[in-house]
Amino acid sequence: MSSNQFAKDVREGLSSTPKRLSSKYFYDAQGDKYFQQIMQLDEYYLTRAELNIFQTQSQQLLDLFDSGGAFRIVELGAGDGMKTKFLLKYFQDKGADFSYCPVDISANVLEELRKNMLEEMPTLNMEPLAGDYFQVLSDLKFQNHKRNIAFFLGSNIGNFRRDLAIDFLSSIQRNLKTGDFLLIGFDLKKDPKRILSAYNDSKGVTKAFNLNLLNRINRELGGNFQMDAFDHNPIYDPMTGECRSYLIAKSPQQVYLSTLDEAFEFKAWEPIYMEVSKKYDLGEIDDLAKETGFRVKKNLFDSDDLFTDSIWEVV
Ligand code: AVJ
Repeated sequence: MSSNQFAKDVREGLSSTPKRLSSKYFYDAQGDKYFQQIMQLDEYYLTRAELNIFQTQSQQLLDLFDSGGAFRIVELGAGDGMKTKFLLKYFQDKGADFSYCPVDISANVLEELRKNMLEEMPTLNMEPLAGDYFQVLSDLKFQNHKRNIAFFLGSNIGNFRRDLAIDFLSSIQRNLKTGDFLLIGFDLKKDPKRILSAYNDSKGVTKAFNLNLLNRINRELGGNFQMDAFDHNPIYDPMTGECRSYLIAKSPQQVYLSTLDEAFEFKAWEPIYMEVSKKYDLGEIDDLAKETGFRVKKNLFDSDDLFTDSIWEVV
């Protein structure tokens, strides 16, 4: 992602009414660290719930995956691969015939992941691929005619607005072949209080995670955002299942970005819309699969029914 695109998106977002910034820019080096901390928080149940699914239902997953012989797991946005590693170890122990292709835009992230995986699984058949998700999938489409299983974990789909989620999933579908799978993680609708506290943790890590984007703008675009002039305000709407985060200006102020040579005015209590983390129910998941050319093969749940890994088949 060029810093040019970053500058353009920030200008556009801060010039809009209401003001907004894109959560895809949360993940610079510092943002990655904050997200690692978020995953350790008591209140942030999502990561543990998905790991629980992998731990308790690894054999079910293997039975689904290898029903057509050898298979290839293509993980979109692998991160540190912690959850996947657990599953891959199990598959190896069972002597399954599979390969693992983590995909990420960042070659550095992939190199770290490669070293880390091979340390624990020296014989893992692994092919890290740097690049665009859709390009990588289309390159793999007919290689060996193995079943491809795309992984899109962690409720990352929750960050997409409905129209964008449909575009994204349709593009994945077009770059898979009939009979291929997508395993996709969805956070489920549940007690609003529980959802809200996952995004409003008592240690303030999620607040720091949001404010870090203002910091990034200061560093990369010569901004003068004052961190203590903004408050972190997440809300959960049980009608739509949307958990939305806002940073709110506590007083009227002006922020100047020297890279853009542009100033942005904030009224008192004016919000910047930072992120949506949408929560789904099973009906919505079914609709989304149908609308994008898939069929839900199986939904797997954690022991507390907080989260589902939904396994979709390309029809
Ligand atoms: C990485 C997109 C799954 O939306 O739950 C965590 C990011 N934001 N806390 C989520 C996030 C605030 C996270 N995802």
